[in-house]
Amino acid sequence: MDILPTIAETRSRLKKEALVAFVPTMGNLHQGHLDLVRIARERAACVAVSIFVNRLQFGPNEDFDRYPRTFAADCAQLERLGVDVVFAPDEKELYPEMQQFLVAPPPVADILEGEYRSGFFRGVVTVVLKLFNIVRPHIAVFGKKDYQQLHIVRGLVRQLALPIEIVAGETLRAPDGLALSSRNQYLSPAERAEAVRLYQALTGVKVAVMAGDADFRGLAEGARKLLDKHGWNVDYVALHKQATLDPAQPGDLDLVVLGAARLGSTRLIDNMEIRAPGR
Ligand code: PAF
Repeated sequence: MDILPTIAETRSRLKKEALVAFVPTMGNLHQGHLDLVRIARERAACVAVSIFVNRLQFGPNEDFDRYPRTFAADCAQLERLGVDVVFAPDEKELYPEMQQFLVAPPPVADILEGEYRSGFFRGVVTVVLKLFNIVRPHIAVFGKKDYQQLHIVRGLVRQLALPIEIVAGETLRAPDGLALSSRNQYLSPAERAEAVRLYQALTGVKVAVMAGDADFRGLAEGARKLLDKHGWNVDYVALHKQATLDPAQPGDLDLVVLGAARLGSTRLIDNMEIRAPGR
């Protein structure tokens, strides 16, 4: 496995490859990331992973400094999975000067996560486009855990005609249902036990919608109240259309329920796709 810190080395190593599948990450890899790597491995002879904690997508009061950095352990795991190339630049390499050209994401980036994390998707799409330009992948794999990010990256690729196939990986969960996330390790043991309630609240919405309940606002409000009652600080629980991420309307069939809430100082997100019963 080649661990390459520079753009020049990464470009020259990958340029001879006929089919490259790429998994961009911020490191601190867990089973969820490794599953994305497994998908990439199935799709292409050459798998490239990037590890870069992207300051541009963190707000001033967010966890950039405390974001867990576990580079040696990450590389050991990637090596075991047969990854070919790890692109691991430092900040000076990726942002040698202040990054003033920024990709302006569409209005869908202003709802849900965008409403609570101003500038987040601008930072994400800017670094993703830059990483795509460096790695030049044919395929890129993103997790459904970051559902809105996946949606926006699909739009980026489509509207800018990037010759990249975006492949989605399912969310991996702990045995109790909690979605795997690097941020789970911030949770105290008591918070970890409570954290599963976000999954349970979204599951409750899913079960009700599948049983025919079309009071989407009422269901989302019920889930929010359940979390509130157990000490969460809820940003949103909402039902949206899978295809556009517009708010769901009665009669819509392919839905997704998304939630984001803070437990103590840790902000967790989760989502679940739902197929409503056809009428
Ligand atoms: O999903 C992530 O880990 C990040 O948002 C990404 C796509 C690697 C961009 O920094």
